[in-house]
Amino acid sequence: MKAPAKLGQPTIRVDGSAKVCGTAAYPGDLLPAGTAHAVLVLSGIAHGRIDRLDTAAARAMPGVRDLLTWREVADAVRPVGHVLGEGWANSTWRPLSGPDIRYGGQIVALLVADTFEQARAAAGQVVVAYVAERPAATLGEAASTAEPASRIKPEIKDRIAGDFAAAFAAAPVRVEADFATPIQHHNPMELPTTTCLWTDDRLTVWEPTRFVTALQHGLAAQLGMDPARVRVISRYVGGHFGSKLGLSQHTALAAIAARRIGRPVRIAVSRRDQFSIANHRTDTLHRIRLGAERDGRLLALSHEAIAATSRFDDFAMEGTDVSTALYACPNVLGRERVARVDRNTPGPMRAPPEVPFLFALESALDQLAHDLAIDPVELRRRNDTAADPVTGEPFTSRPLMRCFDAGAAAFGWAARRAAPRTRREGRHWIGLGCAASARPVKIGPAIVRVSLAQGGRVLVETAQHEIGNGLQTLLAMTASERLAVPLDHVTVRLGDSALPPGGLSGGSSSTTTLVNALAEACARLAALPPGPDGGRSVEHRYLPPGADGKALAGLQQGHVTLLTPPEGKLSWAFGAHFVEVAVDAATGEVRVRRHVGAFAAGRILNPLAARNQLTGGMIWGVGSALLEQTEVDRATGTYLNADLADYLLPTAADVGALEVLMIADEDREGNAEGVKGLGELGIIGVNAAIANAVFNATGVRPTALPIRCEQLI
Ligand code: MOS
Repeated sequence: MKAPAKLGQPTIRVDGSAKVCGTAAYPGDLLPAGTAHAVLVLSGIAHGRIDRLDTAAARAMPGVRDLLTWREVADAVRPVGHVLGEGWANSTWRPLSGPDIRYGGQIVALLVADTFEQARAAAGQVVVAYVAERPAATLGEAASTAEPASRIKPEIKDRIAGDFAAAFAAAPVRVEADFATPIQHHNPMELPTTTCLWTDDRLTVWEPTRFVTALQHGLAAQLGMDPARVRVISRYVGGHFGSKLGLSQHTALAAIAARRIGRPVRIAVSRRDQFSIANHRTDTLHRIRLGAERDGRLLALSHEAIAATSRFDDFAMEGTDVSTALYACPNVLGRERVARVDRNTPGPMRAPPEVPFLFALESALDQLAHDLAIDPVELRRRNDTAADPVTGEPFTSRPLMRCFDAGAAAFGWAARRAAPRTRREGRHWIGLGCAASARPVKIGPAIVRVSLAQGGRVLVETAQHEIGNGLQTLLAMTASERLAVPLDHVTVRLGDSALPPGGLSGGSSSTTTLVNALAEACARLAALPPGPDGGRSVEHRYLPPGADGKALAGLQQGHVTLLTPPEGKLSWAFGAHFVEVAVDAATGEVRVRRHVGAFAAGRILNPLAARNQLTGGMIWGVGSALLEQTEVDRATGTYLNADLADYLLPTAADVGALEVLMIADEDREGNAEGVKGLGELGIIGVNAAIANAVFNATGVRPTALPIRCEQLI
């Protein structure tokens, strides 16, 4: 018999060959017999109302089976709350509920036909006339109307220690800088294709989602059904990066159309549609003020930020809880505001607050290091802290400087010239930069069923998601190790609301949650006597430290129930990025030539998958720093570059030499298995490291992302 797997050993994905051979079934791969195809018509304005909707020509097109507008749907989709509140929707705007238009790309009609091509052709015949009002669809236009974030999210509180104003005024050295980050869209390869099939009064939905339980309960609530009659299947997810959480606008419409025509209906959301059907990373503005001693020790730190949200949802994500807790400082002010814009509701996108907030903080720190002529790594060492300076809560472990030191050594940081614009190679200015990554560890409750048959076959079942992160492999490894069976004796079933709820794929929490849950389940199983047929099975309800029955009840209803244990302490993952850029002296084009990332994220369970996640984040960080921005047409409030030709992402030619270091971080305080999660850790701080390298190369401080050549020449 083969040896069991061992957590910590590099292990090839158990689903690798199915994916490479094309047998892994994604939701959009399934086409039940008789499926009709639906195509969306989206609004071309962001603010106003539908004046006239002419559908006669579209209805007369070949193959058309149904056409839904607000007249047909009206109140058929019941209101449900937001998925990050007490509800399930990623935007609480009710699809086709009336003639009002509140954002660009809002659904105004749905065409159903025998084939996709017929539906698309017919959709082109729908004529919509609007009464349009001038929108304010970007933060730049709405920032002056910002209100305190606590007004829409009471848990976002000002972060105050000491007396910032007095300490800043008296500080021997001061840095004051403003930063801006743009709207960005997740563009997973897999689009949110939805197929709905009614069997009598039961509904089956195939849709890529990172939380089948939320989709099940939310859709049932929208349609006024018993959730037990809704089943959602999403066995594989082709990436989400923060999208695919909760109900999108199109899902209920597919179910309604399928019921109306008595056939399964599939909506293929196009890349362009996806920009408003899914959510996005919101645009943000930051003011950082730092006051320091001449030796670099911070005396005063303030981070004031504004983020955009929609008119109709109270979406906001706190960022100053991280940016004002990362370094020692006696006088702190963190304050966040939110401005409403005429856009669909933003949402989480990989490390939602940390990516913009640490861009601002880590850029300002680099400026302080420059002004003081102190090495940027040394500046961070002098401000290292064992506790949150605002609350006094200690970190369970604090490997930040070990990340900086290991990264600096591997990168050759000592060769950096401190003075900007002093290293030239041919037509390029060369610069080196660094920045920190940091992120609170999140964990949730989960229910995992594990069964051991006579002969040693193991089945692990939980309604969580394989999003390409290698979760299926990790769960197989865990069961293999803990039950002492070979890896290929373990089958893992995920992504089906008929399975016990496993929570959402989000907040880098999947591994942390489920490896702990499954480890406990295996321990219970191993202690059970065999049943009559020689097999045994347990359905284990895992509660992370500090969670109670309320969290479990929330999980079972598809609510987000992530926690940050242990109580009274901060358990964070850390990292440090080192980047070398070459800036073309004539054109201002920036290329990242080398990038070393050093990360400490608790126990690393599968180094292959961990490296894969971390390099993915590092590469995406190049997009965040240099390429990605969703452009808004100010006149209409719609997205101008809603396709992969004009929404720029890093491709192979944009990626230089990459090196990932994993730094030991033994920390069992947050959870028994010592797991921290690293899905989001790799991207945080990359934008700042690149911006700091650009400053070192050129002497120009980038303050707005993406960094474009026009800022540099
Ligand atoms: Mo995340 S962007 O909470 O998956």
